[in-house]
Amino acid sequence: RKKIIIDTDPGQDDAVAILLALASPDELEVLGIVAVAGNVRLAQNARNALKVVELSGRRDVAVYAGCERPMHRMLVTAEHVHGETGLDGPVLPEPKIRLEAEHGVDFIIEALLAHPAGTVTLCALGPLTNIAMALVKAPQIAERIEAIVLMGGGYFEGGNITPSAEFNIYVDPEAAAVVLGSGVPVTMVPLDVTHGMLTTPDRLSRFEALGNRAGSAIAEMLGFSERFDLRKYGWEGAPLHDPCVIAYLLAPELFEGRLINVEIETASPLTIGATVADYWGVTDRPKNVNFLRSGNAQGFYALLLQRLARLP
Ligand code: BDR
Ligand code: CA
Repeated sequence: RKKIIIDTDPGQDDAVAILLALASPDELEVLGIVAVAGNVRLAQNARNALKVVELSGRRDVAVYAGCERPMHRMLVTAEHVHGETGLDGPVLPEPKIRLEAEHGVDFIIEALLAHPAGTVTLCALGPLTNIAMALVKAPQIAERIEAIVLMGGGYFEGGNITPSAEFNIYVDPEAAAVVLGSGVPVTMVPLDVTHGMLTTPDRLSRFEALGNRAGSAIAEMLGFSERFDLRKYGWEGAPLHDPCVIAYLLAPELFEGRLINVEIETASPLTIGATVADYWGVTDRPKNVNFLRSGNAQGFYALLLQRLARLP
């Protein structure tokens, strides 16, 4: 069983990712969930994380709140995509479980120190602020992290918040630069993968047809977040980003990638937050990222449906 920490800003697609992880206890042990500021402000993201944990029926999973704002910049949020609550769509009951008192960054550090080196993977589904702050506060954790698997960036597909930047990297580019420069093995799931994972009407109806509480909530969530993306892209569905991170851990054979150098643009006003991917190896910069370029959408949705059917 792989031990993971999920760092997240839920977010409809984050919610599906969390549910996928909690529905896969044979392969994944979720040590904790840490909220970060991103899609909406921190307090609301943390509340959303609690609601998603309740929805999963796994009240044993601890939820922490991390950083309220990016390392260097003002927070940019995405209510225009995810709704005022960040998790618009279903009406989820007020959570009964409470946030842990410990700061999320300290939880990440302590969990890494408490478990044997090389046994904890960090799954990042939002801006990389908490993970970068943990690396800054306790640099000795870098060599203890098994891997960081993150949803963020885009190269061949461009950006989704600016023409050249993907949202998670754009919100805190300095944090992304710390993570990519840390020496920790990083797998990046960029827009190049997630733009192929569309929530078609047929797939949405399959979530609904699962017949459980989680399936209906997911159909409502994705139905909501789809409306914005349909207008934007004009595709037959919206990209389902964050669950790809968990799916990669469960079934890496569904994805194709290459070990390359990726650097983050942190200076240019025009391209800030861009993930400059040396896909063709035209520099001799260090290969720091397993950059995923494509995924098997049919296999991905089959995995999602099979796992989510297990939930209440
Ligand atoms: C990423 O941005 C957020 O809005 C989504 O939850 C996802 O993590 C996609 O660019
Ligand atoms: Ca997210």
